[in-house]
Amino acid sequence: MKSSALSKLGQRTEAPPISWLMQLTLDRPNLISLAAGFTDNESLPVEETRELLNEILASPRSGRAALQYGTTAGDPHLRHLTADRLWKLDSAAETNHSASADDVAHSRRDGRKARRPRFVAAREIYSPERVVITSGSQQFLYMLTECLCDPGDIVLVEDPTYFVYLGIAQSHGFSCRGIRMESDGIDLLHLEQTLEGLRRRGELKRVKLLYLVSYSQNPTGITTSFGRKSGALATLKRFERAAGHPIYLLEDAAYRELRFAGDDVASGLAAEGGDERVIYTGIYSKPFATGARVGFGILPKPLLTVVSRVKANHDFGTSNLLQQLLSRAIASCRYESHLPELRRRYAAKAAVMTRAMHDHFPAEVRWQEPRGGLYVWARCPKPVKSGLNSGLFQNALKRGVLYVPGELCYAKDPNRRTPNHEMRLSFGSASAADIRTGIARLGATLHELL
Ligand SMILES: Cc1ncc(COP(=O)(O)O)c(C=O)c1O
Repeated sequence: MKSSALSKLGQRTEAPPISWLMQLTLDRPNLISLAAGFTDNESLPVEETRELLNEILASPRSGRAALQYGTTAGDPHLRHLTADRLWKLDSAAETNHSASADDVAHSRRDGRKARRPRFVAAREIYSPERVVITSGSQQFLYMLTECLCDPGDIVLVEDPTYFVYLGIAQSHGFSCRGIRMESDGIDLLHLEQTLEGLRRRGELKRVKLLYLVSYSQNPTGITTSFGRKSGALATLKRFERAAGHPIYLLEDAAYRELRFAGDDVASGLAAEGGDERVIYTGIYSKPFATGARVGFGILPKPLLTVVSRVKANHDFGTSNLLQQLLSRAIASCRYESHLPELRRRYAAKAAVMTRAMHDHFPAEVRWQEPRGGLYVWARCPKPVKSGLNSGLFQNALKRGVLYVPGELCYAKDPNRRTPNHEMRLSFGSASAADIRTGIARLGATLHELL
């Protein structure tokens, strides 16, 4: 038979790299995977989770409440705790916010007067009514983007960005445009130029959102300053009239709680216009238990209504048992008290990885010391290719090491060749010994090639 029964989406969707990266790891148990974004196995809170589940199941009343279906938007207590926690995080981070030197330099280049970003967080922005609990933040990213974008629409992303998000776009037929990164977030001038170019070509109405992974970014480790978030919001606002609709800032704070150096930064919700235009998503999986896929989104009311309708069609509510688990973990402070140990572990593993890179990598390979998250972004000299078909990737695989090729993290851009000389190296799940061995093997492969 010639024609396929598959929908356009079914036909279009390519195999996401995350699936085969995970498969490779499973197929080759001796492989040292510096690719997966898995968390540190030893840190998973088995004892705490057993206690929490015992508490939940201790009485028939609480047990049955947890074993029953819940509501689409999520457990009211968890929504309340989530909103409250975010309000406290942003309020505490207020004292750290300031226009970075880069923002000021940028503004001058741009001919615009530098303006200190204003912190305008109001308590009502952090209302439980604006919160939806999802099955991992991945579900939130998927549904939200689906609610805003049609095939042919354009999403602005960081260059490079979280490669799984590019898969959502590919599957739905949205195109992504990369906005260059500087040391503390996206290049605001490039954002402006990109929007201006789209306006001139009459394509602005296709732009619905800018997606930022704003804390210890996956893959580069960069944290976006509050000034850059405020600046991005102001820039998007300037183009809304020409677009004919709001342009949202989708802030993915997946790694906010995994910061082990430096100060926290307030979210875009606290910036001018953040109440109406910022959609914030966070996760409970990586800071607590990756297996308990509970995430959340905070969003303007009209969008919440639409996302809730779509979620009702997806699953009409995230696992109630897992939500009760998280509610109790947060309310009893077990969640909070787990974080320092987690941060200590990741700081130590990041140090093991960068120490090994100093010892084994050729001097031409560059990277930034991570200050949080799970990744080091290593840049080889441009002639050294790191992609799936490259000598580096294939030889590393032969030596039993896996990394994420940088090329997977870039939006396809017809105007340039996709950069193909970088590697995302994760220190999340491998043991310290495996990190050392894996980096030494990668170093040997790099030396051969250089
Ligand atoms: C940037 C980013 N966002 C979202 C997610 C999804 O996390 P989860 O669905 O476990 O909440 C991840 C997971 O690796 C991530 O790296």
